[in-house]
Amino acid sequence: MIKVSLISLGCAKNLVDSEIMVGHLHQAGMQVISDAAKAEVVIVNTCSFIDSSKEESISHILEVHQNRGMTKRRKEQKLIVAGCMAQRFSKDLSTSLHDEVDAFIGLDQVTKVAPIIESLFASERAKNAAPLSFIEGKSTYIPDYDTPRFRLTPKHFAYIKIAEGCNHPCTFCIIPQIRGRHRSRTVASVVAEARQLVKEGVKELNLISQDTTFFGMDTWDQRPNPRTPVDSTRGTALTTLLRQLNVIEGDFWIRLLYTHPAHWSDELIRTIAECPKVARYIDIPLQHISDRMLGLMQRETSGTYIRDLLQRIRTGIPGIAIRTTFIVGFPGETEADVDELCQFIKETRFERLGVFKYSQEDGTRAAKMNDQITPKQKDARWHRTMALQRDIAHEVSKGYVGRKLRVLVDEPGVARGEADAPDIDGRVYVPITLPPGSFASVRITGYEDYDLLALPVGQMPSTRKVAKQAQ
Ligand code: F3S
Repeated sequence: MIKVSLISLGCAKNLVDSEIMVGHLHQAGMQVISDAAKAEVVIVNTCSFIDSSKEESISHILEVHQNRGMTKRRKEQKLIVAGCMAQRFSKDLSTSLHDEVDAFIGLDQVTKVAPIIESLFASERAKNAAPLSFIEGKSTYIPDYDTPRFRLTPKHFAYIKIAEGCNHPCTFCIIPQIRGRHRSRTVASVVAEARQLVKEGVKELNLISQDTTFFGMDTWDQRPNPRTPVDSTRGTALTTLLRQLNVIEGDFWIRLLYTHPAHWSDELIRTIAECPKVARYIDIPLQHISDRMLGLMQRETSGTYIRDLLQRIRTGIPGIAIRTTFIVGFPGETEADVDELCQFIKETRFERLGVFKYSQEDGTRAAKMNDQITPKQKDARWHRTMALQRDIAHEVSKGYVGRKLRVLVDEPGVARGEADAPDIDGRVYVPITLPPGSFASVRITGYEDYDLLALPVGQMPSTRKVAKQAQ
């Protein structure tokens, strides 16, 4: 039985690809193990979003290769590079990693990984021959409900990839060139997968794609003009999907991640408000608020549109927690743009916020723009916005103290509320062992930075772990 070890890097979308690979390896009778030292094949599923992700991917590849020299068994080990970096750079990498890598596979080969491994063992690589490449043109693949998949997340939460690819023209982003045009699954396919996951005991379904709000719009007769926000009253495949997921029997949350602001509608706001299983949480990457920057980034939105949308969301879905991300240091950004962004952060008081320093990526239009910002300026802008958010986050956390909250227990002593997505947001620490994967009712007793401290409802606070009690 061939033993395979897999290192999954990058985002949740890449993790789903890793899960599909593991599912197919199991189906082919191969054994997937965590210890790379004992494996005959190591797959590194890479990320290529920004320079630091490429560096991380390369360093994992080099480390696996170096360790191959350690034992006789590992000298025979095959190293396969998969994922976004392989899809985009396999030609360059096949020269620069000529000796290290045995084969490159792209995004569309995740279901073919087992026969590819068999073919690597079937024929000896000739001395000095280039690594094999199994990448065939642009990515068009999309998984279905019955695609073999072995989940790598804890038993109680799962990611569901509802679409793949992206049609947005953001000038800073390389992902559409890697992952291809947007293609959605059908509502029926996603619902079938969700039903199965809930049956298996999943308590949180995290819907993901490059742009979740665009779900189904790629199949419209008349595709939405990217520069014009969609008809706000029109139901979309996403609203249909949410309503159908909401009526699946069982106790679970549905969480919407990666919603581009351009395709929100009043109908979507109404749907979330009317579906109790949809978490009162949305992830809506805004990237900036200054019209000049939104124009240069080609975000298909404006400051006025964003302010109005957020107000409609807050009014339409009481208690909603909004997570967003901003980019600072984009080419041409002035201090006035940063002032406007800071003012906007202060006014909006996002419950969750991440700020990224712009990264100049080869192959993007922004990389060729004039007025690139110096690393020092980027640092200063990042520190300024993050310091502002830190104060807001403390106030948000303080506002929870004394409140009752329903949480999902991730591991002994650690849980999350609806306002916290797995691996991205804060946690709720409960110093009592509650069964992982169960919902519990807790009362918030204090907070630490971005995390909350709580006790099960009915228990009195002890002196332990109640730092920063409502001051
Ligand atoms: Fe994700 Fe990195 Fe690819 S962020 S989509 S794994 S480039």
